[in-house]
Amino acid sequence: MTEIRAISLIKDFSTRRVINNISMDINQGNFILIKGPSGAGKTTLAMIISGLIKPDGGSVHINGRNYYNLSRFDRYKLRKSFSYIFQNNIFINNSSVIENILIPFINKKASKNDFKKALYYLDLFGLNNTANKKIYKLSGGEQAIIGIIRGIITEEYTDVIIADEPTSQLNEELEEKILKIFKYLNSKGKTILLISHSKKAELFAKEIYFMENGKITNYEKRIKE
Ligand SMILES: Nc1ncnc2c1ncn2[C@@H]1O[C@H](COP(=O)(O)OP(=O)(O)OP(=O)(O)O)[C@@H](O)[C@H]1O
Ligand SMILES: [Mg+2]
Repeated sequence: MTEIRAISLIKDFSTRRVINNISMDINQGNFILIKGPSGAGKTTLAMIISGLIKPDGGSVHINGRNYYNLSRFDRYKLRKSFSYIFQNNIFINNSSVIENILIPFINKKASKNDFKKALYYLDLFGLNNTANKKIYKLSGGEQAIIGIIRGIITEEYTDVIIADEPTSQLNEELEEKILKIFKYLNSKGKTILLISHSKKAELFAKEIYFMENGKITNYEKRIKE
């Protein structure tokens, strides 16, 4: 169980205030969609909330503990509650697709089951024949799918899945497939924090935040099924 409370977050990059007094509560099992124009601060906010970028002001409380005030070791332990699909995937180019998917297990050898799960997801997207190919040989869209698989491969060990524009390079059919995976993971109790411009994503979210210029300018709570 991972309950997140962000209070009055501020983040400046040089003279620009990129996150301007944002507060947010994210309870376990929620499905949050964040929308907003390019440069609004969506990625920065997601990174602050998941412990990857320290804010200049305000605080992030995870299960009541002030995350950025904790020791490195305690922060590391809490960080492990998050799975993250990055907007810009960084791969090890000279490694295979399967090796890249298993990168999150680098400190803790991937189990047989993790490996099987990687193959299961590759198969789900018709990419099982790419498992042993070098990652750079895949198309941009295929690499985006590998980034998504790498993000969700750890889900059984984490509570929260952050997905930063995972489907922006994909067609509608693939987008729907991925949204359905998020919906399934959410139905199992995972918290989903999705950044997306997709109209379809709105149908899956329980709460929608609209961001502009570092602020939350609109919030909509959807009726739960
Ligand atoms: N590491 C950084 N150093 C300097 N400026 C940054 C850095 N990261 C982000 N910014 C700036 O902060 C602002 C918000 O960036 P952010 O990536 O959070 O926006 P976004 O809403 O995710 O945009 P997009 O929809 O294009 O992904 C932008 O103006 C960006 O240039
Ligand atoms: Mg972004």
